[in-house]
Amino acid sequence: MKFIEAGTARIPAIGLGTYTLEGEACVDMVARAIEAGYRHIDTARMYGNEREVGEGIRKSGIARGDIFVTTKVWWTDLAEKDLKAAAADSIDRIGLGAVDLMLIHWPNPDVALEESIDALASTVDDGLTKHIGVANFTSTLLDEAAAMSDHPLVCNQVEYHPFLPQAQVLAACRRHDMGLVAYSPIGRGGEVLNHPVIRSAAERHGKSPAQIVLRWEIEQDGVGAIPRTSKPERLAENLEIFDFELYEDERAAITALTRRNERLVDPSFAPNWDRT
Ligand SMILES: NC(=O)c1ccc[n+]([C@@H]2O[C@H](COP(=O)([O-])OP(=O)(O)OC[C@H]3O[C@@H](n4cnc5c(N)ncnc54)[C@H](OP(=O)(O)O)[C@@H]3O)[C@@H](O)[C@H]2O)c1
Repeated sequence: MKFIEAGTARIPAIGLGTYTLEGEACVDMVARAIEAGYRHIDTARMYGNEREVGEGIRKSGIARGDIFVTTKVWWTDLAEKDLKAAAADSIDRIGLGAVDLMLIHWPNPDVALEESIDALASTVDDGLTKHIGVANFTSTLLDEAAAMSDHPLVCNQVEYHPFLPQAQVLAACRRHDMGLVAYSPIGRGGEVLNHPVIRSAAERHGKSPAQIVLRWEIEQDGVGAIPRTSKPERLAENLEIFDFELYEDERAAITALTRRNERLVDPSFAPNWDRT
């Protein structure tokens, strides 16, 4: 396993995304993922599965210190009191004590950034989380947030895959010693996996298209990924990417695909994204 080293945080480069996993199926997938070797699980209050994620981790029998758990505070809860209450509720639901990483899920322009970042930092002081970070922050927002935080922000979780460039956000992450955790890292299982550039690299290495895409991400300095699957047989596939390396021409050809600039997650409350 590769780790993203960001300040004092060591984030396993591959984690299990859990958006849309629910109920017993979620408990089961989290436990199976840990059995398959995953050491990083990503949840959020908004996913409605924090309780099940916690239960899956307990069911796996893994030592608490051996697993990296991330959760997130929803963007409507960023005023000081709301953020503190939401974070405490998440910890109660997960039921494992402090999480490893607490993120602001999306920025909210109606709440002063300093207020949210101060409240987020207080979740470390209050023993709710070991580390803090953000998600869906642009490079400008990241510069502002990093300058105001009492505790280091260790990551920005953003959409990243071969059809979306993130050069500016990645440069900002590196400026501030933060990791970039890629969400929708396999393009939600869509067209990216059928692209000839990806398919030919997959054939050349005897790997699947998803493994090629994930490998392209984690080969970049400071980048990790949290693919989601609801199929137990795909858990191992999405983790088995540490036994080969892309060739330089493949890396360049995949990077060139990012010019398509196709964003999959762009809700009405999204910030003004970095221009490409
Ligand atoms: N911070 C944010 O705002 C934010 C936003 C979106 C997502 N996220 C996080 O990032 C995680 C991942 O992103 P995502 O769920 O949007 O998309 P994703 O991981 O790119 O794609 C998931 C889709 O790909 C399919 N898939 C999984 N493994 C595959 C494989 N090896 N080959 C072919 N298809 C495969 C899955 O289908 P099957 O279930 O059938 O395998 C599922 O439909 C989320 O679960 C969540 O934890 C965060």
